[in-house]
Amino acid sequence: MRVLLLTGPGGDAQGWGPMDVTESVAGAIAASGDSAQIAFVETEAAFFATLDRGGFDIVWSALYQVTDNEKYIGTNADGLWVADVFDQRGIPYIGSSSETMKAMIDKFRTHDVLAARGVRVPAHHLVRATDADVSAIAYPAFVKPMGESRSIGVNDDSVVENEDQLRRQVAWIDREFHQPALVEDFLPGDEFTVLLVGNAPAQECLPGLVSVASHHYGRHKVLRADLRGVGLTKISDAGARGADASALAAEAAVAMGCLDHVRIDVKTGADGQLRVMEVNGIPGLKPRKSWGPQLYTLHHQSPEGDLEDYRQLVKAVVDAGARRFNLPVR
Ligand SMILES: Nc1ncnc2c1ncn2[C@@H]1O[C@H](COP(=O)(O)OP(=O)(O)OP(=O)(O)O)[C@@H](O)[C@H]1O
Ligand SMILES: [Mg+2]
Repeated sequence: MRVLLLTGPGGDAQGWGPMDVTESVAGAIAASGDSAQIAFVETEAAFFATLDRGGFDIVWSALYQVTDNEKYIGTNADGLWVADVFDQRGIPYIGSSSETMKAMIDKFRTHDVLAARGVRVPAHHLVRATDADVSAIAYPAFVKPMGESRSIGVNDDSVVENEDQLRRQVAWIDREFHQPALVEDFLPGDEFTVLLVGNAPAQECLPGLVSVASHHYGRHKVLRADLRGVGLTKISDAGARGADASALAAEAAVAMGCLDHVRIDVKTGADGQLRVMEVNGIPGLKPRKSWGPQLYTLHHQSPEGDLEDYRQLVKAVVDAGARRFNLPVR
């Protein structure tokens, strides 16, 4: 099978990581006996030219949208969604459908979809800097950008106790990231992340506890942006809450219609109940470093080491996509 890996300048902000990560994914695919080619596209024209050239059986994209914005995802509302193009052209692709991708990138929409289907989420509001009435919000609340990842826009001031603090944080998110803020109930307890690989009935739910050494937390037990991507977060056995976290994540994946590979973050509310924080449509794939590969190793440690675990994870995702399109799987 020939896999086209699609990435571009937005590969780190939007997708599984920068170019070296895409090269690791390609290496893992090759090690399993399939072939992988990488297309780094900077423009929509280059994206279309890549598809026109063909020579692949299935695409796996690190991008939701082709963009030159390297820093953050943003709300490229009018931009082109790559999965829409795959659908229009009948091109097989790994990962969730375009509709699901659009719902996952917008964390407010994710919460609405989940709440409508009875999946536990925090109370949530979309707040713009120009909004006059914010009386619906209960405190303490948590303020974050509507559609980012890697904890971008998350710091100790994300936890707000009153309207003044809320307005300050919403204005900052508007200035820095040019998007509305998602304001949620503050969830003060333990945090878990669950990797979902494959599709029912062969879907695996792999939970883990996410933490940093206690002296790294500031005023609140939240993963600030400065704690991410620097080797400080630890994925460990989820213990007694693992089954709960997995069950909640599996419910969320069904409600959103997720396919092949997603990672779902959940946190414990003041009432002790787990709630979904977000559904990551293109989970990170940095070998050894991203939470997904760490979760896979936590549950599937092989004697050959974590790069072998990584190869198996990549193979499981590729095969899950391929099976849906009746492509041959080794
Ligand atoms: N409602 C909340 N209450 C408490 N903490 C929260 C809440 N929402 C988010 N956080 C904290 O902020 C961090 C980042 O939030 P979230 O997972 O939504 O965003 P992200 O940046 O997209 O993450 P990822 O890198 O996993 O894609 C979480 O890991 C958590 O520590
Ligand atoms: Mg997260």
